[in-house]
Amino acid sequence: MDEKLKIVAICGSPHRGNTYNILSMLEQSNPEIDFKILMLSELDLQDCTGCYSCVNNGEDSCPLKDDRDMIIDQMKNADATIFASPTYARAISALMKKFVERTSFFAHRPIFFGKHAMALTTCAGFGADLTSKYLTENFTQCGFKFVPSVELMVARKTEDETDRNRKQATEAYAKLITAIKAKEQFKPSFAQLVYFNIFKSISGLNKLKGWADYEFYKEKKDFYYDVKIPYLKNKLAKWIAGKELKKMTAKPST
Ligand SMILES: Cc1cc2nc3c(=O)[nH]c(=O)nc-3n(C[C@H](O)[C@H](O)[C@H](O)COP(=O)(O)O)c2cc1C
Repeated sequence: MDEKLKIVAICGSPHRGNTYNILSMLEQSNPEIDFKILMLSELDLQDCTGCYSCVNNGEDSCPLKDDRDMIIDQMKNADATIFASPTYARAISALMKKFVERTSFFAHRPIFFGKHAMALTTCAGFGADLTSKYLTENFTQCGFKFVPSVELMVARKTEDETDRNRKQATEAYAKLITAIKAKEQFKPSFAQLVYFNIFKSISGLNKLKGWADYEFYKEKKDFYYDVKIPYLKNKLAKWIAGKELKKMTAKPST
């Protein structure tokens, strides 16, 4: 018998409101899936202090002891993660931003390859697309493979609007489940290749200050995991990364 699919939804809404309601509807729509909603507002997640220790000395050196690692373990154990946030002031909520900051060492040392993800965002009028774009770009850099996002307008709460939102969310969720079950091989995108080369080079340049990145990259050759990359694509990615690196390390002109 197949093992149950595991999906974890990380909800950045400060209350059990519109965003939670959609997640809850998805949870109930497929009871055979092990679906867990983590409300960041109900967990102990402290503000990043900006010490840079997670990046330089490894995530275990973070001075904050709270629920961060429990949330990360849930993401590691799940087949997919749903990143859900209301749109507040045309962006992700402050709570979701806190979570992004507390896990931003994964942008340096991505590990979620082979895991799927979906962004689910709500708004009253404008901006759900910006919120989704941010979540998708940030967590793609951490290794996740995103299916198309769900961007919902919850304005009038009429029957029509609610039906439309339920339909949109259910269809997107079905695509996520199909993607998980397909078990297709992941191929690095061009942007991921460029980022890999930039971070690998930086890890070498900063090795005295940031041994965690250095250790992570030192045995890695062309990408985060063994995969055949077309010759020209690889060359071009390295060339663009080199140009970006030059800009980053250029001495200011006097
Ligand atoms: C502080 C705040 C800022 C908001 N900013 C926007 C916005 O920029 N664009 C928009 O369309 N809706 C905005 N909204 C409306 C919410 O995005 C919308 O009601 C959302 O569905 C709320 O989800 P929640 O119930 O999970 O908090 C804002 C709401 C709040 C509380």
